[in-house]
Amino acid sequence: MKNPEKRSRADDRTAGAESGDETSITLLTLESTCDETAAAVVRSTLRPGSPVEIVSNVVASQSDLHDEYRGVVPEIAARAHVERILPVMDQALKQADIDFDGLSAVAVAYTPGLAGSLLTGLMAAKSIAWSLGIPLVAVNHLYAHIYACQLAAEEPVYPCVGMIVSGGHTHLYQFDSPVRARLLGGTIDDAAGEAFDKVASMLGLGYPGGPAISKAAAAGNPVAYAFPRSFLHEPRLDFSFSGLKTAVRYAITGQGNHDVHAVELNEQQIADLAASFERAVVDCLVRKPIQALQATGLNTLCVGGGVAANRLFRKELTEICKSRGVRLHFAPMQFCTDNAAMGAIAIEQLRAGEIAELDLDIAPGLVRTPAN
Ligand code: KG4
Ligand code: ZN
Repeated sequence: MKNPEKRSRADDRTAGAESGDETSITLLTLESTCDETAAAVVRSTLRPGSPVEIVSNVVASQSDLHDEYRGVVPEIAARAHVERILPVMDQALKQADIDFDGLSAVAVAYTPGLAGSLLTGLMAAKSIAWSLGIPLVAVNHLYAHIYACQLAAEEPVYPCVGMIVSGGHTHLYQFDSPVRARLLGGTIDDAAGEAFDKVASMLGLGYPGGPAISKAAAAGNPVAYAFPRSFLHEPRLDFSFSGLKTAVRYAITGQGNHDVHAVELNEQQIADLAASFERAVVDCLVRKPIQALQATGLNTLCVGGGVAANRLFRKELTEICKSRGVRLHFAPMQFCTDNAAMGAIAIEQLRAGEIAELDLDIAPGLVRTPAN
């Protein structure tokens, strides 16, 4: 579906898409997949490989709204996006010192994520595309997390193994290009970030759980508890964190008793549980991408998503990649958790002529690999 009156303007603004010329692109990208409302203005040209400038980048986190529930409440997230999307967008344009007329395209993360959250971003982006007559670009949020690595790299990072470690996903892909990927494996139950959040809740730490666990773990003993590491010695490129989560629960309560909050833990116990848990997660997170590199024959690894901000994980993976001569790219710290700057992947899509129709729908479903 197109806006017939405005479409000629859209076609003018991306007319160089097939010729790969120096036509300048100023793109507004929107992100509302989970509990961050974000907008960014990014700039580049249609020539493949030309640098991408992040002109503005605004993120409104909702963690204060979800803190008391120790996890994201979808209905609260959806309502907060509705309140925040326009102010966040306005701020991104203001910081970039442009108005809507200065935009050549608008991009939005449409998959995967929470349905109510995704809808807000998509409806806002469609309205802009329709009223201005500019192209709409449909961004895959997981691919965007990996593209965050390209934003900081001085050389092309593709082809690569891409590892997304976030609140919803712990997945390994083989990327031929920014937008062409094959799923190699992933979690069969909880994502790593989700496990961090749930264990933090059991230990009475705040939300989001990742940074809270790391902070508590600093004073703890990582070998105080022998927690399980699923699939560590198997060739399959999958993860499972639900058994680990249950092991932490029983370490707190003892077998058969489920109420973690009825148990009073002292500070050292919390620190030891946090450190042993973090160590177990990181052991799995470090091993599987190395196996993925071996399985694909690739020598470049890109890592993005909220858990990529974990310092122990970054340190361990950096060491192992160095010892094996693997080119490792982490997403920059400020682009690990959800943001709209990584939506700059849409520039690659525009260069490839990938423009979405205005009847684009959300695709909320989480990516899961089957248990076997
Ligand atoms: O990528 P993201 O912002 O949202 C999703 O797409 O899911 O990731 C959020 C997740 C949360 O589960 C949070 O606990 C985790 O990333 N996280 C961390 C750290 N910072 C954020 N996990 C471990 N260590 C961290 N430093
Ligand atoms: Zn994310």
